[in-house]
Amino acid sequence: KENTLAQPVGITLERYIMRKQAEFPFATGELSQLLRDLALAGKIVHRDVNRAGLADITGGMGTQNVQGENQKKLDMEAHIRFVRALKNGRETCAILSEEEAEIIHTDNDSGNYVVAMDPLDGSSNIDVNVSIGTLFSIYRRITPPGSKATAADFLQGGRRQVAAGYILYGSSTMFVYTTGHGVMGFTYEQSLGEFFLSHPDIRVPQDGTIFSCNEGYWFDYPDSIRTFLMDCKRKEYSGRYIGSLVADYHRNLFNGGIYLYPPTSKNPRGKLRLLYECYPLAMLIEQAGGQAVISATEAILDIVPTELHQRTPLFIGSTNMVRALVGAGETVP
Ligand code: AHG
Ligand code: MN
Ligand code: MN
Ligand code: MN
Repeated sequence: KENTLAQPVGITLERYIMRKQAEFPFATGELSQLLRDLALAGKIVHRDVNRAGLADITGGMGTQNVQGENQKKLDMEAHIRFVRALKNGRETCAILSEEEAEIIHTDNDSGNYVVAMDPLDGSSNIDVNVSIGTLFSIYRRITPPGSKATAADFLQGGRRQVAAGYILYGSSTMFVYTTGHGVMGFTYEQSLGEFFLSHPDIRVPQDGTIFSCNEGYWFDYPDSIRTFLMDCKRKEYSGRYIGSLVADYHRNLFNGGIYLYPPTSKNPRGKLRLLYECYPLAMLIEQAGGQAVISATEAILDIVPTELHQRTPLFIGSTNMVRALVGAGETVP
């Protein structure tokens, strides 16, 4: 019988980041430090999430964010944890968060990076012990170091992201990220307090048999989407929808599938936020060999952003499923 205790100890996220940095002789180590800051905040949020039912952090804040969503205590808790970690890290000059209307200046105007983030994704699942996540997107600033960062630093467009990723607080906690050289997945070992490389060079299957959308909006969906979904049902594909974008994306990344959030009457421009939900997942899916689009010819990463909290429809996942939905077309350069 195989001795499962004899598994080699994997490489930690810290060490992996350091090794990658060493491969680039001109790297300053700032981006590496920034990723470590995000991982640290992720560990703290992991701890908070794991005892959410015991500590007084479930339920609502009684406040709303800029999009009129009711903020949960854990939305704000995670927001504060990540902002604090990035301020302490000193690599980031400004942060855009779902939970704050304006850019947050970190008082480190010499920082070379800006970070857009969804500190806690899947708010509706917090109080019921279902998977939730964190999403982040990183740019090098375009304004001169030393000056105050501006909206322009965040409105560079998805192709200018230098790194992107998410943390999934699921049956295990994972840190998944890309710097444009493939997608790497790390799993948190709670007793050791470390993320270990568990899923090197993640690739999404080209085909899949999972469709993920909120079918409650069925009568709002455009005909083309209903036709696609009817076809999935005729083939007896599996409908899977958690309602946490990060978790739905993560499952489809490994098993093959498509996630759809079309325009609805409640959200005519789509619900998901371009800068801190769709751009990071779009960079990850393209790095993993899949696609993220809004039509046959428009990739998510090519959308020209105009507003910090702008929304977009999203169709993302296995290439052949995305193509079956929107039709053929060149969307990926
Ligand atoms: P958030 O909790 O960060 O506001 O994001 C909610 C998003 C996303 O996580 C999820 O996929 C989607 O909203 C669910 O929306 P519906 O409830 O309309 O299906
Ligand atoms: Mn929200
Ligand atoms: Mn979200
Ligand atoms: Mn959120």
